[in-house]
Amino acid sequence: MEFDVAVLSGDGIGPEVVAEATKILQAVGERFGHRFHLHQALVGGCAIDVSGTALSQETLDICQQCNAVLLGAVGGPKWDDPQAKVHPEDGLLALRKGLGLFANLRPVKVLPMLVNSTSLKPEIVKGVDLIIVRELTGGLYFGQPKKQWRTLEGRQAVDTMAYSEAEIERILRVGFELAHTRAKKLISVDKANVLQSSRLWRQIAIEISADYPDVELQHMLVDACAMRLIRRPADLDVLVTENTFGDILTDEASMLAGSMGMLSSASLAGIPRGKTFGVYEPTHGSAPSRAGQNLANPIATILSVAMMLRYSFDLETEAQAIENAVLAALEQGYRTYDIMSEGKIKVGTKEMGELIARQIKQS
Ligand code: IPM
Ligand code: MG
Repeated sequence: MEFDVAVLSGDGIGPEVVAEATKILQAVGERFGHRFHLHQALVGGCAIDVSGTALSQETLDICQQCNAVLLGAVGGPKWDDPQAKVHPEDGLLALRKGLGLFANLRPVKVLPMLVNSTSLKPEIVKGVDLIIVRELTGGLYFGQPKKQWRTLEGRQAVDTMAYSEAEIERILRVGFELAHTRAKKLISVDKANVLQSSRLWRQIAIEISADYPDVELQHMLVDACAMRLIRRPADLDVLVTENTFGDILTDEASMLAGSMGMLSSASLAGIPRGKTFGVYEPTHGSAPSRAGQNLANPIATILSVAMMLRYSFDLETEAQAIENAVLAALEQGYRTYDIMSEGKIKVGTKEMGELIARQIKQS
């Protein structure tokens, strides 16, 4: 089969990890007889330098003409000035809104050979295999009013956590559908003891749970969830939550796996059913201090390619081939700096990418 993939490498370590991820696409193409046509475009700081905007209409058009988007990371000290009119991160938000990517899937899986790379006790993180479904185009990030102004008493600012019934329903359905394919347990995370938007969220969760009789729905307050994630994470499975809660909880959950360098993500424009349009990117940032040194761990981006094959191209076997190849490279003892431990073999970005690509071709 043939697929068009927009490739937005971005800034910092973005281009390095994306280069390895595209090697993996080529390896999958060779091994399974597919063709992936890559279409490069700019996003983030590098786009600001060229066009003055973090996401140009041209880049958005290229993304819309493709079957999926592979993204690296954006940002860096060069564009950090808080007074600046545009920031690289604006590109991410514009991409999410512009492509209707309302469902952000962030899986956290603790691999047995990496239980010791986390700062938590190994017995706590052992066996963790959960996925957080984060609403991505609503809530505080986009709600109106959103502004700063001056009053006689001083400066003031407001952000709005706004959600419509339709927005809540579609993200909850993503959670239910995923739970249905996994352990049939869904935890809906909210702050219904305080927030109106959360009360509506909880009510809608109860209503639509009638459509998924085989999935057990549980509600959890976000503060309790933050505790639960580090106290007893191994029996959590699918969690679904609104944008800001999801932003915070996914960073917290990422620490279970030891390194952000291992964590993939998908941002989807629909319910994941195999042919859903999406943007795939590592959960980590652009790590400017590590850029250009062949240091960064490309596994998060490579595992994001596996998600692309699964959710946008309906290629489950190929997705698993990537995941198995990652496991094989780790089992053979290869580690990038962020997951390095005694007795293991330290490799750089390119070497790790090549090792995984070779595994796929041999599989
Ligand atoms: C993330 C990031 C972004 C977010 C930033 C960079 C805008 O933290 O993807 O989690 O807050 O959504
Ligand atoms: Mg975040």
